[in-house]
Amino acid sequence: MSAKEHNQLWNRGTLVLLFIFQMQIFGFDVDNRPATDVCSTHTILPGPKGDEGEKGDQGEVGKHGKVGPKGPQGNKGVVGDIGEQGMMGKIGPIGRKGDRGLRGPSGVSGGKGKAGTVCDCGRYRKFVGQLDINVARLKTSMKFVKSVLTGIRETEEKFYYIVQEEKSYKEALTHCRIRGGILAMPKDEEVNALIADYISKSGFFRVFIGVSDTEKEGQFVYADHTPLQNYSNWKEGEPKDAFGHEDCVEMLSTGQWNDTECHLTMYFVCEFSKKKK
Ligand SMILES: *[C@@H]1O[C@H](CO)[C@@H](O)[C@H](O)[C@H]1NC(C)=O
Ligand SMILES: *[C@@H]1O[C@H](CO)[C@@H](O)[C@H](O)[C@H]1NC(C)=O
Repeated sequence: MSAKEHNQLWNRGTLVLLFIFQMQIFGFDVDNRPATDVCSTHTILPGPKGDEGEKGDQGEVGKHGKVGPKGPQGNKGVVGDIGEQGMMGKIGPIGRKGDRGLRGPSGVSGGKGKAGTVCDCGRYRKFVGQLDINVARLKTSMKFVKSVLTGIRETEEKFYYIVQEEKSYKEALTHCRIRGGILAMPKDEEVNALIADYISKSGFFRVFIGVSDTEKEGQFVYADHTPLQNYSNWKEGEPKDAFGHEDCVEMLSTGQWNDTECHLTMYFVCEFSKKKK
């Protein structure tokens, strides 16, 4: 220690401060001096500086600093890229009907058409006509079957059916035949009574039966061309062939026969054999 330093330390204030400092920080045994020496003013002078200590361990990670102040607003960005197309929205409500538009200008007249081909119309017409006929037949057949099912009379061997369509004798014959039957031929009292009952119960007055003398005047035959045998049920005074053209026979609701004109139209009775031919 230099003399200069020594003189300075002799300054009373410094001395007191150093004393307090040494007492607080190092205790009394820092320099391994006896406590009495420490208290002595002669031992208060600091010793030489020690060697530099080893490097300490790395300290712990410090605490997060405080949140800094809000920075200034940035500059406005550039326009971004165009976005993807969004999904189609819902269909809106139906709008009001628009006003009628003005009439448009006339169009340009069309070009001349191609020459037509020769139509085989006759063939088509014939075909369509045949179809119509078939359909009509089917309809009448259905109507016939329907009414047959709702009203029919029968014996052991046959069915009898009053067709409620007004036909001439000839039409009636055909009608029964195309349905697999024949205009009814009452050949005995039993069948005659049955048909008569059928007529009256149905509320009719007269129907054609299958008896006529169209082939030979005065010689009545059945629709199957067999001659009347020992049965007939003529009304009193009949057949009289008034005016010479009553060649067909009707049965009245009483069961009696009356010769009448073939062209008159009325309901008629068909008979159908139960036996298969
Ligand atoms: C005709 O009448 C006779 C007697 O009345 C009878 O025996 C005969 O079977 C009848 N003929 C027919 C075809 O009904
Ligand atoms: C019998 O037929 C004739 C000719 O159609 C007719 O004038 C006459 O009234 C008929 N008789 C009966 C009882 O219906």
